[in-house]
Amino acid sequence: MSSARYRIVALPGDGTGPEVIREGRKVLDALAENGPAPWTVDERPGGAQYYLQTGKELDPETLTAAKDADALLLGAVGWPGASLPNGDIAGAALVLGMRQNLDLYANVRPCKLYPGVLHRIGKEYKTVWPSELVDMVIIRENTEGLYTPARGRLRRAEDTEVAIDTRVITRKGAERVIRYAFELATRRTRGAPEDGVKRVTCVDKSNVLEGCRFFRETFDRVAKDYPAIEKDYALVDAFTQWLVRNPEHYNVVVSTNMMGDIITDLASVLQGGMGFAAGGNIGDHHAMFEPVHGSAPKYAGKNQVNPFATFAAVEMMLRWLGERKSDPALLRQADRLGTAVATTIAAGTARTYDQGGHVSTSEAGDVVAAAVRAVAA
Ligand code: IPM
Ligand code: MN
Repeated sequence: MSSARYRIVALPGDGTGPEVIREGRKVLDALAENGPAPWTVDERPGGAQYYLQTGKELDPETLTAAKDADALLLGAVGWPGASLPNGDIAGAALVLGMRQNLDLYANVRPCKLYPGVLHRIGKEYKTVWPSELVDMVIIRENTEGLYTPARGRLRRAEDTEVAIDTRVITRKGAERVIRYAFELATRRTRGAPEDGVKRVTCVDKSNVLEGCRFFRETFDRVAKDYPAIEKDYALVDAFTQWLVRNPEHYNVVVSTNMMGDIITDLASVLQGGMGFAAGGNIGDHHAMFEPVHGSAPKYAGKNQVNPFATFAAVEMMLRWLGERKSDPALLRQADRLGTAVATTIAAGTARTYDQGGHVSTSEAGDVVAAAVRAVAA
């Protein structure tokens, strides 16, 4: 019998997913040295490549294990040419399926720029946004919107005549994710970099879409419970330019599912690219943490991709679990990892190809594991 208190289920998935999860586990091991590990990591196969081999995206027991786990850590899914009979990406069961089955309604994506990170603009690597200007969290609704299965095609004989995706915005779905955003703004010690103001920005297209009008009305209703937090609005198209031009204005941002999907990839550029972007899929009873990037098939097996997004995902996972279980030891481990990551980035000693460097995925993991050992437990 293991003395570990927490069970983590890891789903490495496809492509470079297993490579970054290996490094995530390496830093978890480094954190747990010199004492009994407070967690076990139960790694399960699944994804598009598994689907091609076995005809299923994951084993039925994996869903049960996920429901019993204290937290989940996902790598990435997707493989060229692998799709389900309905046309969805094979491996969706690990991402969209878990979000739905575990009711992980808030997709929480911090966008923070660490000193030492370079931006790739054109072919050059340089600092574009000063690090003190970028420190926000974008929250994407994660269970409805355009991602509901309310879609279909009208086929006549061999031809598709009509394809329809219906966007569903419910009172419950909008309200709980917006409340999550206001609670987070309340808890976060810092406000927006620009002025220190605690602010929640509602990003929508309420000048055109009915669902967005309902989302914004819900935002206004929920905001009444949080008089100390500033309400802010942005239409999604305008938001994309303000985000890039004035990132310092944003503190917490909340949006619907598909819009949140798009704006978080854009926002990742502010933090150095998808190689640094991590997210938590969080519900009331379960949570799954992941690097936001995909499986990058072109780099699979090359030991080249940036594992820092996974380190950030591991840090978020330890923090979420520590808060949930009121376990100060876990919170200290999250802080330790955060410090190790920040020092390594500042030192510029683990730059992978996306940062113009030559450090491999596993070497970056070694450097961060060593940095973890150097931070007092
Ligand atoms: C994400 C991804 C997923 C999504 C894909 C892999 C289904 O892009 O997590 O942002 O669309 O939500
Ligand atoms: Mn996405």
